Amino acid sequence: MSKIPKHVAIIMDGNGRWAKLQGKNRVTGHQQGAKSVKEIVEEAVAQGIEYLTLYAFSTENWSRPKDEVNLLMKLLVSSLRKEFHRMVDNNIRLVSIGNIDALPTPVKDELLSVIEKTKNNTGMVLTLALNYGGKEDLTQAMRTIADKVKNSIISPEKVDESTINEHLYTRNLPPVDLLIRTSGEERISNFLLWHIAYTELYFTKTLWPDFKKEDLKEALLNYAKRERRFGKTSEQLTS
Ligand code: FPP
Repeated sequence: MSKIPKHVAIIMDGNGRWAKLQGKNRVTGHQQGAKSVKEIVEEAVAQGIEYLTLYAFSTENWSRPKDEVNLLMKLLVSSLRKEFHRMVDNNIRLVSIGNIDALPTPVKDELLSVIEKTKNNTGMVLTLALNYGGKEDLTQAMRTIADKVKNSIISPEKVDESTINEHLYTRNLPPVDLLIRTSGEERISNFLLWHIAYTELYFTKTLWPDFKKEDLKEALLNYAKRERRFGKTSEQLTS
């Protein structure tokens, strides 16, 4: 049985601290972070990961200084433009999760254009979490389900796990097998809440701009050594 996780999600943290350590501004940190994104996406394809989900901008990130938010948005547009051909070469299908209607128009347009152009690709699914929050995702799902119940489209007793799953932004994604967070922080920060029920968590002190191929390989190796029991005993798994 393959020990390569099917779905890897990453909280890319530490761009600001990396910049500070180098005596540079936060902009440079995010630019270096974008370089790590490129390298890690290519390595994920090389490793045979089927789904890679990156936390690129959270619902909470809007409260950062306006200049930094603008820079992150610009970086997204330029990265999407620049990396589009490489996504095609690597047979990557780009999708997004989160409320993209609230993104600046150029970001939304570029994103939708790449999503459309890569929709028939059959390789790795690269998901960008943009204006995404786990609580917001669950909330919008509950709202839609409540509305359907109210209009007798669903009966309340029929609401089960699959109903909730089908209404989340993440509906087309499998559960996350491995969640990586860089920079030494050990928390979830409102990322995928539903899909991490049985996820293996991997925390590293490495700052995101320093997180490269070898670091991903190390995380995968660490994952491969773990025994996932999903609530069962070790004996049940081997029998
Ligand atoms: C965390 O570092 C990073 C972000 C809030 C955004 C992630 C964005 C990138 C990696 C750049 C481009 C993304 C793509 C998809 C091309 P931080 O600013 O929170 O760092 P700090 O905690 O050290 O201040």
